[in-house]
Amino acid sequence: MTKAIRIHATGGPEVLAWESVPVGDPGPGEARVRHTAIGLNFIDTYHRTGAYKLQLPSGIGLEAAGVVEAVGAGVADLKQGDRVAYCGGPVGAYSEARVMPADRLVPLPEGIAERDAAAMMLKGLTVQYLFRQTKRLAAGDTILFHAAAGGVGLVACQWAKALGVTMIGTVGSDDKAAVARSLGCAHTIVYTREDFVERVRALTGGKGVAVVYDGVGKDTFPGSLDCLAPRGLWVLFGASSGAPPALDMGMLAARGSLYATRPTLFTYAAARADLLAMAREMFDLMLAGKLKAEVNQTFPLAEAAAAHRALEGRGTTGATLLLP
Ligand SMILES: NC(=O)c1ccc[n+]([C@@H]2O[C@H](COP(=O)([O-])OP(=O)(O)OC[C@H]3O[C@@H](n4cnc5c(N)ncnc54)[C@H](OP(=O)(O)O)[C@@H]3O)[C@@H](O)[C@H]2O)c1
Repeated sequence: MTKAIRIHATGGPEVLAWESVPVGDPGPGEARVRHTAIGLNFIDTYHRTGAYKLQLPSGIGLEAAGVVEAVGAGVADLKQGDRVAYCGGPVGAYSEARVMPADRLVPLPEGIAERDAAAMMLKGLTVQYLFRQTKRLAAGDTILFHAAAGGVGLVACQWAKALGVTMIGTVGSDDKAAVARSLGCAHTIVYTREDFVERVRALTGGKGVAVVYDGVGKDTFPGSLDCLAPRGLWVLFGASSGAPPALDMGMLAARGSLYATRPTLFTYAAARADLLAMAREMFDLMLAGKLKAEVNQTFPLAEAAAAHRALEGRGTTGATLLLP
């Protein structure tokens, strides 16, 4: 038996229950991992509330790092004692130990701490595909990134700086603005009191930006579209304030032949070769000192509900870890 957070019904943080569960031995193609750190992500709150459907009862959580305890038949490239991390399903990362499909586990290079990997796998690989694949950003590009002091946001600040990209970041407070700027965000806008469309227009000499990365959704719509230069790209990758209304394609025409996409990490990292290549690029930046895991909050795993309250209450910056 092991301990895990499980949900039997959707709802507020109180539905997160700390329970004893059987962990079992890995079957063919699987590995059992003992977690040393678990990453908290906004998507976990969508699963908890039912905004994204899970078959209940269910485990929860999509990101963790730890040590392989045992491997099942046919697993050739992992062995007991290997340090690994993962991002993505099946859900169930909020546990002391679990069985995972071995092809989802990424071996950690020497020099990458498990806690840093647990903080970076989901958020960092998200920035990898947003900045390097959804659109391949180049030095000199100017972008707008919402919630720049959040988990994904603080990785984005650093990655933009490493690429020579000018990032304009929106944030909920002056304290968050200072954190984002200290990590490479060129300009910050406190969108809880400033009109971010006007500020972006002023900062870009009226031109607008090439790409808007929007993980906030409802509250930043349709302002995000108004920040784009003609033929710019709106990347809606999350909805921490709720889902925006269905997109009327005419809005893209009226604002200058815009593009829109609604990507997910799980599509970009579906093939193992892609997952490993994306992780390699991120680890290389970390080992070069250009990207640092910003773990600004930790909670005991058993107190995951408190972590959810902090994240949904806009009380966190950077990454939050749950520690078994
Ligand atoms: N599609 C993908 O592949 C993918 C992958 C990873 C994450 N995501 C998405 O990326 C976004 C960021 O994820 P994260 O885990 O790093 O979370 P996070 O940014 O650390 O937390 C969410 C942030 O959203 C902002 N926010 C604005 N309005 C809010 C509201 N009404 N309630 C709560 N927060 C609000 C807050 O920052 P301020 O106070 O500064 O406004 C808050 O800190 C989420 O939408 C998530 O779903 C998508």
